[in-house]
Amino acid sequence: MNIKMIEFPKHIDKYGNLVPIEEKDTIPFKIKRVYYIYDVEQNVRRGFHSHIELEQVLICVSGSVKILVKTPYEEKNILLNNPQEGLYIGPMIWREMYEFSEDAVLLVLASEHYKVEDYIRDYDKYEKMAIDYLKEEK
Ligand code: TYD
Repeated sequence: MNIKMIEFPKHIDKYGNLVPIEEKDTIPFKIKRVYYIYDVEQNVRRGFHSHIELEQVLICVSGSVKILVKTPYEEKNILLNNPQEGLYIGPMIWREMYEFSEDAVLLVLASEHYKVEDYIRDYDKYEKMAIDYLKEEK
């Protein structure tokens, strides 16, 4: 599956921690958009979509959240609870986000501006498109 964990450097001193994210070294795309999700109730599950072209890096800068990433062939549940790491998600991967802690802030770096046409929100449609996409990728 075209996902990976990215570790960011951390600068620790007596005043606290600082994590710099330099696009050129650590992010495998040009960052065109940043958004964050917070104040999500614990029983809420969101996402339920794939992107056709968009690439993203998800960073839980506060608290914790679980991410389901799924293709027609495999799925993984990943716990994000470390502001020093990011989850890269490539194109054509279904994702759901759940079990947000009360203090969770999920920061997302994205490779493109917001584009409704890039979303696939129907899982059956996603599955058909992903099977073709992954065949071509091989
Ligand atoms: P939505 O895509 O439903 O969130 P998720 O799939 O992560 O649960 O987005 C919620 C709302 O925010 C929806 O009205 C679209 C809007 N939105 C933007 O305007 N710009 C953005 O960059 C994003 C990600 C969402």
